[in-house]
Amino acid sequence: MPVRRREACRLIPSVLGDQTTLVNPLDIKSTEDFLGDLQSMTRRKRILVATGGGDCPGLNAVLRAIVKKATGQYNWEVLGSMDAFNGVLSEPMQLKVLDLAAVSGIHVRGGTIIGTTNRGGPFHWPVKRRDGTWGSEDRSDELIRRLQYQGIEAVINIGGEGSQRISQRLFEKGLNIIGVPKTIDNDLSATDFTFGYQTAVEVATDAVDKLVTTAESHHRMMVLEVMGRDAGWIALGAAIAGGADIVLIPEIAYRLGSILRKIEERFSSGRGFVIVVVAEGARPAGGDVIFKQSDEVGCQHKVLGGIGRFFVGQVKEQLPDMEARVTVLGHLQRGGSPCAFDRILATQFGVAAVELIKAEKFGYMVASNYPDIVALPIREAIEKYNYVDLDHNLVKTARGLGICLGD
Ligand code: F6P
Repeated sequence: MPVRRREACRLIPSVLGDQTTLVNPLDIKSTEDFLGDLQSMTRRKRILVATGGGDCPGLNAVLRAIVKKATGQYNWEVLGSMDAFNGVLSEPMQLKVLDLAAVSGIHVRGGTIIGTTNRGGPFHWPVKRRDGTWGSEDRSDELIRRLQYQGIEAVINIGGEGSQRISQRLFEKGLNIIGVPKTIDNDLSATDFTFGYQTAVEVATDAVDKLVTTAESHHRMMVLEVMGRDAGWIALGAAIAGGADIVLIPEIAYRLGSILRKIEERFSSGRGFVIVVVAEGARPAGGDVIFKQSDEVGCQHKVLGGIGRFFVGQVKEQLPDMEARVTVLGHLQRGGSPCAFDRILATQFGVAAVELIKAEKFGYMVASNYPDIVALPIREAIEKYNYVDLDHNLVKTARGLGICLGD
């Protein structure tokens, strides 16, 4: 039965409030179509957010910014998938409603309130075989179907390089997805910085400061092993900020010769102690990184660690009388409250990601190009790894200070 114009005019304002301009009152339809249109116009846009990969200070600040912009400004509904995309693929689904109350005040908290994982993923979902061993299956099509079924119109995937590779593959399969970069390692080249990096450098610098006092008292060499799988940004930052004497990064395979000379110089000049910062991914010339293969289900990366102890062993072979100790900073670098810089960057990324959805610029990742926040295709963002360039100003600065880089 056709709806009379007077009835339509009465219905529209009461349901749509100030959105009446969206409806053309002359476009009179059947009651069914008309009510269907009204329903779709009044249904809130629903988006999903996921945090993947290793956690990182600032993730909660991004979540808060996304919700404040999407819900507070556009009245969209935001759902969080628990533990990256595992929440969507679980039975029953593990989705958390992220409303303003859920994100209130979380920008100061480390970790992520929707959990994360750096194992598996929709393209490599771990499956136990009959013989008890583990294999993997591709559940990406199912993921997309499940998202459609939930009425989710767009996804924001917050994660490092591995997560953004997943974003790109999902985008190629037709998913409306936006990437937000994160990693304490600062190893994504498309952005000036990733949030989490500055906080990690703060933590590592604080550790160097503390090690200096004990090194000075005992006339020792103190070695601090920090994170940084393939890029030495944390080690380099902490070495400069903390005033270390030697820094070993994955980009430079170190040789003992220059290192031993530096140690001798430190002792003969009367300074009487040595501070070394070594990235977990550093390795000696002709040697390999130190790692163990993880036995955790679905873990695809080598678990690095132990280069600090190995390095001390090498030095002690040459200088047996020198006292040396190793501190492995580990996950202290990833936990705790983000510093102000990371909170601001994370918040900028969150707001910008929602703006990209609004503009329907899918397949893009937000990035910092100081002072702007920009967007670039995820495909481009994952093309190049952000190694420490040996011509980078931080390397020149370190050399200018007389810090030995082991080359
Ligand atoms: O990629 C970030 C990072 O912190 C690396 O520096 C480190 O090797 C890795 O994550 C450790 O990850 P997890 O202990 O969570 O497996």
